[in-house]
Amino acid sequence: MPAIRVGILTLSDRSFRNERPDLSGPALVEHCQKIGWSVSKTAILPDDLAPISSLLIDWADSNELDLILTTGGTGFAPRDNTPEATLAVIHRAAPGLAEAMRSASLTITPHAMLSRAAAGIRNRTLIINLPGSPRAAIENLLIIQPVLPHAVQLLQEDAASEAGHAFQDKKKSEYGHLQP
Ligand code: MTE
Repeated sequence: MPAIRVGILTLSDRSFRNERPDLSGPALVEHCQKIGWSVSKTAILPDDLAPISSLLIDWADSNELDLILTTGGTGFAPRDNTPEATLAVIHRAAPGLAEAMRSASLTITPHAMLSRAAAGIRNRTLIINLPGSPRAAIENLLIIQPVLPHAVQLLQEDAASEAGHAFQDKKKSEYGHLQP
């Protein structure tokens, strides 16, 4: 299987303004490269919903990425907009990934309950929200990492050869107007 192609997006007002170094983005890049994934896009954005959504759309629709990992902006602070920006652009939700991260993280810290992280699929790209601290971001990635190669493999399957083909087409025609 070819290396998983990853984009890493840091969401932080302060890191975007250069008031605090972005530690979680580089930590994720280093981790992904260490396990043999190919990180081809990185960016830092402030916590505004619309630009986050539009970058996620750009990256997912480029057909150059299998996986987008976001870090930051998943908590309860008023400017924590990452889950909403993600939910606005995904075509299909993947709640199991976020559930697994919260559930396993609860064995590490009760603060895991404060993560509103989302995960979902846009076209053939999987988008996953991770928390903002480098330690928490890596802890969460380690929880779901074992299933991600299979997830990406499933996303790459030829739609025409799948039994769900007709259903996908129906979904597109009936609900297409609701997609951003
Ligand atoms: N998950 C793990 N594994 N380890 C952590 O330290 N921190 C939590 C939670 N998930 C944490 C974690 C905290 S304190 C918060 S507020 C939420 O993630 C959201 O983090 P964010 O606002 O930085 O995105």
